[in-house]
Order: sequence, then C-alpha cells, then structure tokens
Amino acid sequence: MNILGIDTSCDDTSAAVVSDGCRVLASVVNSQVKIHHPYGGVVPELASREHLRNIVPVVSEALSGAKLDMRDIRGVAVTIGPGLIGSLLVGLYYAKGFAYVRKIPMVGINHLEGHILSIFLEEDIPSFPFVALTVSGGHTSLYLVEGFGRYTLMGQTLDDAAGEAFDKVAKVLHLGYPGGVVIEKLSHSGDKEKIHFPRAHLAPGSLDFSFSGIKTSVALYVKKWETSAQEKDQASLADIAASFQEAVVDVLVQKVMVAVEKTGVSSVVMAGGVACNKVLRENMKAAASPKGIGVFYPRPAYCTDNGAMIALAGYHRIIHGERADLSMDVKSRFPIDDLAPLPG
Ligand code: KG4
Ligand code: ZN
Repeated sequence: MNILGIDTSCDDTSAAVVSDGCRVLASVVNSQVKIHHPYGGVVPELASREHLRNIVPVVSEALSGAKLDMRDIRGVAVTIGPGLIGSLLVGLYYAKGFAYVRKIPMVGINHLEGHILSIFLEEDIPSFPFVALTVSGGHTSLYLVEGFGRYTLMGQTLDDAAGEAFDKVAKVLHLGYPGGVVIEKLSHSGDKEKIHFPRAHLAPGSLDFSFSGIKTSVALYVKKWETSAQEKDQASLADIAASFQEAVVDVLVQKVMVAVEKTGVSSVVMAGGVACNKVLRENMKAAASPKGIGVFYPRPAYCTDNGAMIALAGYHRIIHGERADLSMDVKSRFPIDDLAPLPG
C-alpha cells in the first residue's frame, strides 16, 4: 500500500512515498536553510511562503522518484502539528486537495509520532517496548513507546530544546545557522574538558530537561573570552564548542539511562536532528551497551524532518481504519497524549 507522506511543520518542505509502512520508494526534502540563514533562525512568514512555492514540485519529485503517478497512491498522511501554523497549513491543504481529488483516505499525523517511528524506516529495528528520545530544534522529550500509537511522555524540556541550544550557542560563537552541524564539526579539534559548563539535572530522578542555563553560561563565557587575550590563550573557539557539546550530550545520555532504569526496557531509540550528532550516538552507546541496552537511530536523512516518517506513521493509522475529514485543522501545540489511540 503506497502512502504519500507530507511534512511542512517547520522550514523543510518534505514529501515521500512509502510502501507498506517500511519501504521508502522516494523521499524528497527541500531545505530552506539558505533563506533563514541570514536571520539566525527560522522566520515563520518566509517559511510558509517557501512551502507554498515548493509543495507542488516536491510532491511531483517524490512521485516521479518512486516511478508512480497520483493514481498509485492509496492514502495521504500529513503533519498537522506541532509546528508553525502557517507552514503546517500549506501541507494540510495540499493533502486535503490530493485526497479529495483521488478519493483516498487521509490522516493527520503528530510530528513527534513521526520522529518516534522513524526508526522503522530502517532494517535494524527495536522491539517494543522501548524508550525514545526525540531531540531536535523544537523538541526534547522522552517517551515510553509500547507499540504503534502507544506513547507515554516521561519527560520534556522545561525551556529550550537541545537543538535550539546548539543553534543559539552557534549564533553567540558567530558560526551561523543551523548550529548543530557546525558545532559538531568544530568540536573535533577542541578539548571537551577545557571548560566545565553547568549540567542541569533538575530534581533527583527527574526526566525533564533544561538547556537555557547552559546557553546563558556559554554566552557569558564568550562575552568575557572575546575581550580578554588571556582567556583566548587558555581556550580556543573549538574548546568552547566541544565543552558545550559535551555538557548537552552528558545530560541527554544521563536522562535516557534513568528512563531505561525506570522502565526496564532493553532498547533506546534516538530521533530528531540532534540525533545526527556522532558524539551523542557514541556516548549513548558507551553508556547503554555495557548494560545490554541496544541503541537505535535512523540514518541522518530520517533523523531530520522528512515525509517518510509521516507516511510510515500514517500507514499504521490508515490500516487501522483511521480517517480524517476535510474539516481537520492544524495545531501549533499537539501533546502526544492527545493522539487518537490506534484501534485494536
Ligand atoms: O528534526 P530537525 O530537522 O527539525 C526540527 O524539528 O527541529 O532538527 C533540527 C535541529 C537544529 O536545531 C540543528 O541544529 C540540530 O537539529 N542538529 C544537530 C546536528 N544536526 C542537526 N545538533 C547537533 N549535532 C548535529 N550533528
Ligand atoms: Zn522535527
């Protein structure tokens, strides 16, 4: 069953065709990074205009990449939240038009359900239950995943998302946007032990996160560092990047391990843009493997926003009979607890 998946929740226009909920026939992502780069972050108004420009060619490219035409698509899955309202609307209205004209089922997907399930686009998959860490520019959350459609939120960030912290620190270091990739690259030549930035663990056993403190701490450090030759002698830009990255990764790994202990699961899944980070991947494995815990993450193209994870999530909802009608709307906030449980 070929499902068309569409995601326009933030600054990527994405469409993909996925067969039977696992085989990606084509996945196309049109990135707007160059457009938002000069502003150091996503400008919502520009993002929706770009989605409008891109949605038709991106879906066409996905269909031709899959060597299919509209008639071969049996269902449409589209992200309806959380995300930027103007951006989400472009994907939703395109999906409504497509499903209406083709008289096929349509379902609205929670973007975070897409990230949680993105691992099932790969061959090496965990068995349920597992702990999932979704870690991106907009979200940092921990879930217990007991099956398709069965997610319990265990903790989340109380302020900035981890990716947001990477992006803001990159801005302070004048490294451009988005920050994650640049900080990771620069960190290779830095000493992660050089500066001890604070790790916010919150209350003992807490599975919530807070990254605004570390961001402020880096900003204050850099302010002093920029005007002091002596400080500059002691630490390089790469040392600051590496020390910051280490602090964020430390907290992520530690919280995941607490979640694993609390739930007794034997697998961890990481998804979202920050899950591309190699230090996070390595450190997570180093903490989990000795305890017999498997660590799973999709390839980078499925970690960042993509339509394939939405098509996959949609497939599981459509085969269980879920249907949306043309009155479906977008939601800027969409807690995973509000998700309709899958029947059966
Ligand atoms: O999942 P994603 O594409 O979009 C959101 O839903 O936010 O994630 C983008 C975020 C950005 O904040 C970016 O800086 C971060 O993921 N990111 C990384 C890396 N690659 C992307 N953060 C750390 N290390 C990376 N290698
Ligand atoms: Zn995302």
